[in-house]
Amino acid sequence: MVAEAAADTRATIAAAKHLLVLTGAGISAESGVPTFREAQTGLWERYDPSQLATPEAFAEDPELVWSWYRWRRSLIREVEPNPGHAALAHMQEAAEARDAGFTLVTQNVDGLHAVAGSRDVVEFHGNIFDERCSRCHRPGATSGPEVETPPSCESCGGPMRPGVVWFGERIPEQALEAATTAAGRCDLCLVVGTSSLVHPAAGLPEIALAAGARVIEVNPETTPLSPRCDRVLRGTAAQVLPGLV
Ligand code: OAD
Repeated sequence: MVAEAAADTRATIAAAKHLLVLTGAGISAESGVPTFREAQTGLWERYDPSQLATPEAFAEDPELVWSWYRWRRSLIREVEPNPGHAALAHMQEAAEARDAGFTLVTQNVDGLHAVAGSRDVVEFHGNIFDERCSRCHRPGATSGPEVETPPSCESCGGPMRPGVVWFGERIPEQALEAATTAAGRCDLCLVVGTSSLVHPAAGLPEIALAAGARVIEVNPETTPLSPRCDRVLRGTAAQVLPGLV
C-alpha cells in the first residue's frame, strides 16, 4: 500500500509544472538534530525556547541565549545530511532537467539542504551560522572560533546576535516574497517534517491549496494540515523521500 502510494506520488511529482517543497525540523531529525516539539529529544523538552528564542530574552540575558545557540551550532557542525535531504536535491535536479519550476523553502536554520546539494534554498527562519548586530543590524558570519559571549559589532559596538528569526520577529522580506510567490504559483506542494503550527510558514500550503495546487504531506505524525492534504505519506523523511525520486 505504502509502495503503491509512493509510486503514485512519484508520478505526480514527475508531472508537476512547479513544485514547492516546505520542510521543517523533521527532515533533520534523522541527521541527529533534535526537533522542537518532540518529547525526549526535542529542544523544547530540555529548554523553553519561548525564554530563549526571542529578542526580549536576548536583551535580558544575551550570554544565556548566545550559549544556547553556540551549543546548537556545535551540534549541527557534527551532523550530516540524511537520505531525505539528498532525495530533495535529486528532486530539484530532475525538475530542472525537464524545465519545471522548483522551490525549496525550509524553516530549518541548520543549512543541511545546501550541504546535500540543494540550490537557492529559501531559508525562511534564517541560518544559525549567520550573525547580525542586535543594535544596528549589520550582518556578520560566525567564521571565527566560537566565543563564550556575544562579540561586539565592528560598526557600533552593540552585541552580535544569531542571524535567525525569533518568535515575534518578521520573516526576512526576500524569503517571504520568494516563498509566497512560489506557493501561489505551484501546482504541487510537498510538506515534509513540519508540525504546521508556526505561522507564517504554516500558511504556505494554505496559499497553495487556495491556488488549486495538490498538497502532499510526509510526516510520521498527524498534523493540523493532514486532513487538508490530497495525500499523506506516514513515515520519516529518510524512509519516504528516496522512494519519491
Ligand atoms: P517541530 O519540532 O515543531 O515539528 C517537527 C515535525 O517533524 C513534527 O510534526 C514531527 O512529527 C515531524 N517529524 C519528526 N521526525 C520526523 C522524521 N524523521 N521525518 C519526518 N518528519 C518527522 O518543527 P517545525 O515544524 O519545523 O521556529 O517547527 C517550526 C518552527 O517552530 C521552527 O522553525 C522554529 C520552531 O519554533 C523558530 O525558531 C522561529
